[in-house]
Amino acid sequence: MGGGALAELPDALARTGCKHPLIITDRVMDELGYLSRVKGLLEQAGLASGIFLDTVPEPTVACVEAGLSVYRTDQFDGLVALGGGSAIDTAKAMSARLATDIPMHALKVPHIITHKGPPVFAIPTTAGTGSEVTRVTVITDGTTDEKMLCMGPGLMPAAAIVDYELTLTVPPRTTADTGIDSLTHAIEAYVSRKANAFSDQQALGAMRLIAANIRTAFHNPDNHAAREAMMAGATLAGMAFSNASVALVHGMSRPIGAFFHVPHGLSNAMLLPAITRWSIPGAPARYAECARAMGVVSADLEDEAACTKLVDELMALNEELCVPAMSEYGLDEERYHALLETMAEQAAASGSPANNPRPPSQADMVALYREVWA
Ligand SMILES: [Fe+2]
Repeated sequence: MGGGALAELPDALARTGCKHPLIITDRVMDELGYLSRVKGLLEQAGLASGIFLDTVPEPTVACVEAGLSVYRTDQFDGLVALGGGSAIDTAKAMSARLATDIPMHALKVPHIITHKGPPVFAIPTTAGTGSEVTRVTVITDGTTDEKMLCMGPGLMPAAAIVDYELTLTVPPRTTADTGIDSLTHAIEAYVSRKANAFSDQQALGAMRLIAANIRTAFHNPDNHAAREAMMAGATLAGMAFSNASVALVHGMSRPIGAFFHVPHGLSNAMLLPAITRWSIPGAPARYAECARAMGVVSADLEDEAACTKLVDELMALNEELCVPAMSEYGLDEERYHALLETMAEQAAASGSPANNPRPPSQADMVALYREVWA
């Protein structure tokens, strides 16, 4: 963890005995020169590596299978994932597929991935999904447009190399989307029905770091202190939700991403204020604590007022970070409304809504989807 941590990649490989990794990344990482830096570090350590450059945003089963066909062309013994959540999620899914013969669509929840495949060395370049420290991957089934949630200890990377210097080139839109995704992880982990004393500290720590720095990182991309805090916050938030699960925002966000190709963090951002407002009656003391951790209210303000301020802050944050309304983003209104029931069914099937402090019915989710369109 920290600036320059990337240099520790060869040590991390050596500790697991990995000698011939396949690097899972994309063309942007190549253009930014990050791929050649990773290749160079491995070469200096006497390690030959292969490259799979074709990961896609919101990765699909086809992308995972394409990566596997490259992996099988040589005697690779590990996966170095370099990029945002998409590259890391792809590498984790590849590892899970290599551990067993089970096809990708059968690995989604309620299946639990326990077998360990080849080790994954995760190098996030956004702050972020936290995927580098979670036992979760999300892969889209291209035939049904379903974002499949896959979970289990077999998905945990062998090592996470969290170097905030790799985020200095991230453009403001992505900084905002991934930052709000991290904030959502922290809030949802804290209010989740699966929250515990351990995940609570990770979630509160993440909220403090992210809330205090997200605006600066958005407006001043080269601010090292803000980038470093955002990276630490994103990784902490990842640990928090890996231990306590996400809830209704993520449950309802995945179908929007799958059907309308809205980036994951952005669809979370579009949903977060309204779903938080709806969920507060299920855990007002917990949401009030979120407002306090985020520095939105003083420590002694009572819960009800603190919860109101929390929703105000989430709306203000969306406005400052230029999060568009769904209609402004170009979603087809007719198709959106035709898919309400299907999206709510897929949300429920992922299991995430059941972790919400106020569990929703199918009708509640449909009503919330309608509300956020308006
Ligand atoms: Fe997320």
